Amino acid sequence: MIFRVALLASFLMFSSIAFAETPPAVDKKIVVADAMVDVNTGKLISNPVITIEGGRITAVAGGGSATKADGELIDLRGMTILPGMIDTHTHLTGSADEHGYKRLATSKTRSALRGVKHARDTLMAGVTTVRNLGASGFIDVALRDTINAGEIAGPRMFVSGPSLGITGGHCDNNLLPVDFQVSSDGVADGPWEVAKKVRRNIKYGADLIKICATGGVLSKGTKVGVQQYSFEEMQMVVREAHRRGITVAAHAHGTEGIYAAIQAGVDSVEHASFIDDAGLKLAKKNGTYLSMDIYVTEFILGEGEKAGILEESLAKERKTGALQRENFSKAVKAGVKMVMGTDAGVYPHGDNLKQLSRMVTFGMKPMQALQAASINAANLLNKEADVGSIQVGRYADIIAVKGNPLEDISLLENVGFVMKEGIVYKPFR
Ligand code: ARG
Repeated sequence: MIFRVALLASFLMFSSIAFAETPPAVDKKIVVADAMVDVNTGKLISNPVITIEGGRITAVAGGGSATKADGELIDLRGMTILPGMIDTHTHLTGSADEHGYKRLATSKTRSALRGVKHARDTLMAGVTTVRNLGASGFIDVALRDTINAGEIAGPRMFVSGPSLGITGGHCDNNLLPVDFQVSSDGVADGPWEVAKKVRRNIKYGADLIKICATGGVLSKGTKVGVQQYSFEEMQMVVREAHRRGITVAAHAHGTEGIYAAIQAGVDSVEHASFIDDAGLKLAKKNGTYLSMDIYVTEFILGEGEKAGILEESLAKERKTGALQRENFSKAVKAGVKMVMGTDAGVYPHGDNLKQLSRMVTFGMKPMQALQAASINAANLLNKEADVGSIQVGRYADIIAVKGNPLEDISLLENVGFVMKEGIVYKPFR
């Protein structure tokens, strides 16, 4: 007994000495660059020095220099650094070459495996965080968890699980006749059914809820402009979700559906194509974010047909895309809160940031577009303490481009360096 106590005492002594002599190794990295886009102040900062410890930013200094002695030096001189971009509307389990009936030939397992590649492509393009809006079978939850475990490379994902929608609506699968009895995972009608779906999505790992408030472009047999969920159903979704501390994203193209969704209290309106002045006013008053995917129209009309997009959808897109871009300009002018949501998955993953230049063409200043894809998106996610800016305490999600993105926003289509949580995925060559 005495012997055992002595052994324990010596062990404790020894271990405390060992601890004092060799402090736990912190992996410390120092990033230096020519310039940094500060999305908080809207300014460009020269010669930034960023210190990173344990995956988080621990110091940000301007006009400085660093030596190897300070930590592992990551030399990005010649480059401008920015916070990792955030895409608030992706479908990582969706493939741009499989639309319409082609999609029916793909199993969930195949979608999941393709999702692994899509996640990597997204990250390598400089998108370090995404909201993934709609996936059947909770493939998005599995993908998120696999990325978070460090087993595959991908953006930090916030996922919705299956999108909620009415029977026969945009979020249902309307491709097959009644003989097949096919309907999507998230179909729910009536307040209590939708409440149950919200609870079920949360049970299986959703971070937020996505609903289809109106018809859409790519769904068979739906009218883009027509409201689908009733106000009461949307109100129930919002109540259930907010009570559980999570947000609601509403797919809504049509004027009335947008208005009803905002009134019901959703946190973001996706697409917002036919939003009118009353909708803009209400969004501004309520602080609702608009996530307008104004690049995707180019893919749908250019390459959609060979990817399997139905003729009826192409016809819908011809009416939707141009109007959406006009209304995007109006929303910018009205000063409504906006984020960058792209609908990547409809078009190739990794092309996400092509949208930024369109956001500038249709009325944003380059800095505004970058803020939409960083701090604004972080605020919508309620993750502004973790992502969205290069600031002390945030994850070290840092990307870099050659040149000044405030002069040429299309530089973001060629991201030359990607770090997520302090790990370099795309080294600067
Ligand atoms: N997923 C959307 C839908 O089917 C895509 C809309 C794309 N068109 C556009 N102009 N944003 O409704």
